[in-house]
Amino acid sequence: MGYELRVATPSDVDAIMELETATFESDAWSTESISGELASPHTYYLFAFDPETPSVLAGYGGLLAPSGSGDADIQTIAVAPAARRNGLGRTLVTAMLAEAAARGAGQVFLEVRADNPNARALYESLGFEQIAARAKYYQPDGVDAQIMRVTL
Ligand SMILES: CC(C)(COP(=O)(O)OP(=O)(O)OC[C@H]1O[C@@H](n2cnc3c(N)ncnc32)[C@H](O)[C@@H]1OP(=O)(O)O)[C@@H](O)C(=O)NCCC(=O)NCCS
Repeated sequence: MGYELRVATPSDVDAIMELETATFESDAWSTESISGELASPHTYYLFAFDPETPSVLAGYGGLLAPSGSGDADIQTIAVAPAARRNGLGRTLVTAMLAEAAARGAGQVFLEVRADNPNARALYESLGFEQIAARAKYYQPDGVDAQIMRVTL
């Protein structure tokens, strides 16, 4: 399946929130947070879609990369269950890393739940390495966070 990417805008907040809340059952971001992210000049959010159904969100990813910072963060990523294992997650992360580099970032960080080996495998396949952990970071589940970094 050939998915395409476009830059997400504030009007995509409802579609993103629908997938966000379905995906992250206990720790989804709020509508206010996602709206703020979509409106910020310091972020880069991508909306992935099947060209046959361009209004249907197949996945999204969000990068925080303030100009002049030198560092960037992958804030969030989710692929709709029906679209998984087609390479879309890797395409989204690769596009965010390219944008981070274009904005002058030398390294990109992210946090991943310790109980999410699929996402961790995705990040490792793109060069991320674990540099730290934060105990009980994800609440209310009490799951550790693993901090990963890739140098561009
Ligand atoms: C993690 C996620 C974004 C991956 O999206 P995807 O489009 O399925 O990923 P891809 O098809 O590009 O797979 C990339 C790599 O991820 C790993 N991976 C993804 N899903 C996997 C699974 N179910 N089992 C094992 N490895 C998996 C593999 O290393 C895979 O590489 P490979 O296909 O060459 O073996 C998706 O599963 C998802 O949305 N999960 C729920 C949300 C989430 O966990 N987000 C990350 C929060 S930090």
